[in-house]
Amino acid sequence: MQQISKENLKVLYQEQEIQKGIADLALKLNADFKDEEVYLICVLKGSVMFTVDLAKHLTMPVKMEFIRLSSYGSGMTSSGKVNAVDISLPDLNGKNVLIVEDIIDTGHTARFLVDFINHNFKVKTLKFCSLLDKKIKREVDIDADYYCFEVDDKFLVGYGLDYDGCFRNIPYIGYIEN
Ligand code: IMP
Ligand code: MG
Repeated sequence: MQQISKENLKVLYQEQEIQKGIADLALKLNADFKDEEVYLICVLKGSVMFTVDLAKHLTMPVKMEFIRLSSYGSGMTSSGKVNAVDISLPDLNGKNVLIVEDIIDTGHTARFLVDFINHNFKVKTLKFCSLLDKKIKREVDIDADYYCFEVDDKFLVGYGLDYDGCFRNIPYIGYIEN
């Protein structure tokens, strides 16, 4: 596995740009959901930072749930197989559900989650929200209902995104040059 240090990272989005993107996204969500209760489903570990920062801007009644999936084993390529590490959820029948992801890459994780929720619950609304959208890498026909930034085919780290478990805690989003 490639050795990466923080000094080799190039900045793609500074902390302020990320926060601005999230605030703008929250305006849209606040307008769309108005006063309706929303269940935020945070997909750990990658979307922890995004979910927490987004939630602080939301004005409707919010309930936060956390599930844990993994699709990247180690390294920089999506395995295409989604591993449900912990996917226990409350009764979502009749609820507004907003899945919150860090990034949509191949789309396998998003497809899995949408199918899982629709298979287990008759929700009122199901929307998918992602901080980043790597549209160019899509293998599955799925789109985010909401996203902040469309990104190129680069391996990104920071603000929740990791390389071999590292860099989740850096406040900006950086990339590793291939
Ligand atoms: P997908 O199933 O291929 O769409 O991948 C989704 C998951 O892979 C995301 O939720 C991330 O956790 C991870 N992932 C995708 N692209 C990147 C990246 O550039 N850096 C770090 N993790 C990534
Ligand atoms: Mg993720």
